[in-house]
Amino acid sequence: MINIAIDGPAGAGKSTIAKRVAAEKNYIYVDTGAMYRAMALYLYRLGIDPDDSAAISSHCGGADITIEYRDGVQVVLLAGENVNDYLRTPEVSDMASRTSVNGDVRVKLVQLQQELARRQNVVMDGRDIGTVVLPDAQVKIFLTASVEVRAMRRYLELMENDESADIDKIKAQIKERDERDMNRAISPLKQADDAVLVDTSDLTIDEVVDRILSIIDEKIGGGN
Ligand code: DC
Repeated sequence: MINIAIDGPAGAGKSTIAKRVAAEKNYIYVDTGAMYRAMALYLYRLGIDPDDSAAISSHCGGADITIEYRDGVQVVLLAGENVNDYLRTPEVSDMASRTSVNGDVRVKLVQLQQELARRQNVVMDGRDIGTVVLPDAQVKIFLTASVEVRAMRRYLELMENDESADIDKIKAQIKERDERDMNRAISPLKQADDAVLVDTSDLTIDEVVDRILSIIDEKIGGGN
């Protein structure tokens, strides 16, 4: 199977880019952040305190998370319920960032991710794909952008949805999440030694996709 790992911080454009690359290559796109978000939603609904690691460890095993693809879109099911619409709220984003530091949460979700990659050609995005989940991936990309650019992208996205937004607040939130993702003890966000760094700050989406497709061609040839 062909495995392509795309890692990087929040707002670097990972999901947009990974989705496009997967469509171009006809591979399955696996959004691992959505799995951490589904786990967070499960724990949130149980009323678990995100700082209570013992409670998280004892409850995470009960989360029944499965992934399906409907019309090419990844659908996350929590005990059979499609929870896609609940995964992007600020509460779940914060809970996901906090509960994803837990080792038991990570072991469970990494297993699920490895199973998906064993069965099909995937483009998988996350924080630890090239380093931990798919260390043997044929292609590894580390996608970054400056904090300023990432904050502006998020700001424009919120404005588009007619939501009020404060650019300084967004920047502070991004820095806080980066800090937590990069400094956690288990599987911190980090560029794999054999990953190619792509800085998207001054590139359009098309340019980034082209760049990654040519990296894939270089590493494994143009065929599927
Ligand atoms: O990529 P995202 O914003 O949807 O990720 C949500 C949270 O999950 C984020 O705080 C980092 C965490 N995460 C992780 O720890 N490992 C991954 N492979 C993907 C996401």
